[in-house]
Amino acid sequence: MYDVTSIREDFPVLKDVIYLDSAATTQTPVQVVAAMNDYFYRFAGNYGRGAHRLARETTNHYEESREKVASFLNADHSKIIFTKNTTEGINMVAKGMEWHAGDHIITTLIEHHSNFIPWLNLKRYGIFVDVIEPDSRGIIDPVDIEGAINDNTRLIAISHVSNVFGSIQDIESIIRIAHRNDIQVLVDGAQSAGHMTVDLSALNCDFFATSGHKGLLGPQGTGVMYIKDPDDLEPVYLGGGTVHGVGIDSFELEPFPGRFEAGTPNIPGVIGLGRSIEYIQDIGIKNIEKHENELTEYAISRLSEIPMVEIYGPDNRAGVIPFSISGMNSHDVAMIMDETKRICVRSGYHCAMPAIEFLKLDGAVRASFGLYNTVKEVDIFADAVGQITSLVS
Ligand SMILES: Cc1ncc(COP(=O)(O)O)c(C=O)c1O
Repeated sequence: MYDVTSIREDFPVLKDVIYLDSAATTQTPVQVVAAMNDYFYRFAGNYGRGAHRLARETTNHYEESREKVASFLNADHSKIIFTKNTTEGINMVAKGMEWHAGDHIITTLIEHHSNFIPWLNLKRYGIFVDVIEPDSRGIIDPVDIEGAINDNTRLIAISHVSNVFGSIQDIESIIRIAHRNDIQVLVDGAQSAGHMTVDLSALNCDFFATSGHKGLLGPQGTGVMYIKDPDDLEPVYLGGGTVHGVGIDSFELEPFPGRFEAGTPNIPGVIGLGRSIEYIQDIGIKNIEKHENELTEYAISRLSEIPMVEIYGPDNRAGVIPFSISGMNSHDVAMIMDETKRICVRSGYHCAMPAIEFLKLDGAVRASFGLYNTVKEVDIFADAVGQITSLVS
């Protein structure tokens, strides 16, 4: 049975607030903090460098985290790179692919800026970028993607779950279409990993980027990048850890994944991330998904009863609910929620200006759920929204 009461004991901050902003960053369980403390207090050394006991123990823990992440995402561990976040992973692809003027990229209007600006930036090298519009619920039709493909299309970059709409894209179909046309696919998994099953072997995408600090419950400053074929990318950063042979005028790159992890990484963070993966697996990703889905459905049913509230996004969605209250600025709504009920929700553009403008808004309020939220919290939240609407009616 899903025991949310005992889960909440692992997140002390939840005693003080109603935290409905897990799409921005999740809270971190005490077990993960303890694993990081353990590194600092018991065996801190550098990773992959040195023969002494601390360096060896650190390296073992770091590599164990890689194994845990890989097994959780059903990928070969040698294809998993630790980054600092989703944004860094996506930029590794934008800067590491061998582009030629005239190449063509397809992305969508509802991407987070992190999966949008890196592609727009390539336009100055003569690369064309097509931006596909969603339907009114934030769903991208794979047929529209297929229609935008031309002979020069090299990459399709799309988020698995929209951080604005909560919509879950049909990435399976999009990947099939892309591969039929010899096009690579980058999936931005910032809002999917840790909230739903992600099976990278079944998905067969070429690149998958996610953050440790969102659904994966790890610390900020950690990210995961899956690269199917190391030969597809040049490493963006070079230095310690990326080479195994250096002469006075040449060097030889490490095999995968070392060549993509330059310099001393976020060792405590990666060790914490390994522990957070274990934490999720102990509860079970399917159980987490079910719990978050139930809360989301309930929250939508409560919000839908409130006049003056408009909810965006599809019926079948991840735990992300954007809404607006007519006549009210989203930041004001968020501030009132915090000041009156200690409810933390996101407001504004959610780092996705084109998506919010598509909704003809200058900001939206967003409630997003994690494995630790409760029905009671949803009730307090919905009651608070109702009370706020009475201020303007
Ligand atoms: C869909 C999506 N992509 C990318 C990002 C960027 O994540 P990070 O800031 O961890 O790099 C976010 C963050 O909210 C996101 O929701």
